[in-house]
Amino acid sequence: MKNHTKVLILAAGKGKRMKSTKPKVLHELAGKSMIMHIIDKCISSGLKDIYIVLGEHKQQILNIIKNTKVKVISQKKQLGTADAINSAKKQLGEFNGRLLILYGDMPLIKEETIKKIINNTYNSFSLVGFLAENPKGYGRIIKKGNQILVIEEKNANKEIKKVNLCYSGILCGPNKEIFKSLSKIQKDKISGEYLFTNIFNNLSERKKLIKILTYSEDELIGINDKKQLSYAEELLQERIKLFHLKNGVTLLSPNSIYISSNVKIDKDVVIEPNVFLGNNVVIKANVRVKSNSYIEDTYINSFSEVGPTCRIRKNTQIGKNVKVGNFVEIKNSQIGNNTKINHLAYIGDTVIGTNTNIGAGTITCNYDGIKKNKTTIGDNVFIGSNCSLIAPIKIGNKSFIAAGSTVSNNVDKNGFSIARAKQQIIKNGRSKFLKV
Ligand code: UD1
Ligand code: CA
Repeated sequence: MKNHTKVLILAAGKGKRMKSTKPKVLHELAGKSMIMHIIDKCISSGLKDIYIVLGEHKQQILNIIKNTKVKVISQKKQLGTADAINSAKKQLGEFNGRLLILYGDMPLIKEETIKKIINNTYNSFSLVGFLAENPKGYGRIIKKGNQILVIEEKNANKEIKKVNLCYSGILCGPNKEIFKSLSKIQKDKISGEYLFTNIFNNLSERKKLIKILTYSEDELIGINDKKQLSYAEELLQERIKLFHLKNGVTLLSPNSIYISSNVKIDKDVVIEPNVFLGNNVVIKANVRVKSNSYIEDTYINSFSEVGPTCRIRKNTQIGKNVKVGNFVEIKNSQIGNNTKINHLAYIGDTVIGTNTNIGAGTITCNYDGIKKNKTTIGDNVFIGSNCSLIAPIKIGNKSFIAAGSTVSNNVDKNGFSIARAKQQIIKNGRSKFLKV
């Protein structure tokens, strides 16, 4: 039991410095909330008993974490980090193993670091710190003889403010001892809160062994405001892109590309500048995503080309060797192998077969003002330029729709359909209409 580790994540704080109505830990990095980043890291580190302390935004956060097996603890009033941990006394106080305390606003911590912290903690306490480039705002780790203390910025004098060894918010150690010391923490005079960092006084007084473990600032930064959030996003983007580059993906001008954390890209894919790949994008080998394309929730099969400047979204599957060209929007559709939609089209709620050509300016009119209707286009179909297909509609295999048609009835296999006003020619007619 002693070697068993439970995790407690604090996420009940108000997050005032974010200046947002959204709870702090629900702000997203690379398309995923901060709290899910940290929960996922705990899970992938093999931790099974994960507890989270939530406060006034409990319901909103529960909606996001509902598919995890995380156990929830309520902190009634946000009286500080020590009080947050104390709220877990009933559920955790008697546990006879190790407790790992994490803060919900440190989403960049890596799985291997969580494992290292746990493996380094035997009958001692591990206080996790980092050397900060700019330590402002963090608690500073101070060694006084055998004593180890953490002094909050608000309580720090000039000398202490110069220290750049900062506390990350992570402590790992024997659970019962943590709760024992916690009960001794008094309200801080300056902040009026019960500060968890005051635990180190008591642990030192009780001659407990505290080891300082340090890791990189890049994975231990705490996020309190939008500036830190955007800095963390930069760090995470760099990490995500490095991962894909190592896997054989070519990124042209990587700084201009945005990739969400759950995007999957095979080798030999080329992503051109200014591309946005949002959540749930899967790109198979040898695809080229050309500049300025915005893609979310989409599967693109191998050897296809999309863009430049296309938008593909909401549950779309693109087959092999498909061409989706400039100014094309595709939503909730399946596009068969070898099909071409090369220019200026809107394809929504549509299934298209293989080897079909969709002409420039084709629009699927999927919305009738009340509901979305389906378009089905077969294999080897030729749709001329500037056609409107009024859904629900079925266009059969090998059929042909003439350019400029507005089609509202189904077209059979091998059929031809033309639906446009007949052209009139008036000989020398210009002068009748244009008087100059
Ligand atoms: C905290 C540390 C500081 C450390 C820094 C690292 C304390 C007192 N200070 O400061 O030493 O350098 O993190 O990033 O711990 N929370 C609750 N209930 C509360 C208050 C806070 O659950 O009543 C949660 C917050 O949601 C947050 C975490 O505790 O996830 C830390 O609180 P925060 O206010 O962000 O602490 P910092 O000022 O950043
Ligand atoms: Ca913080």
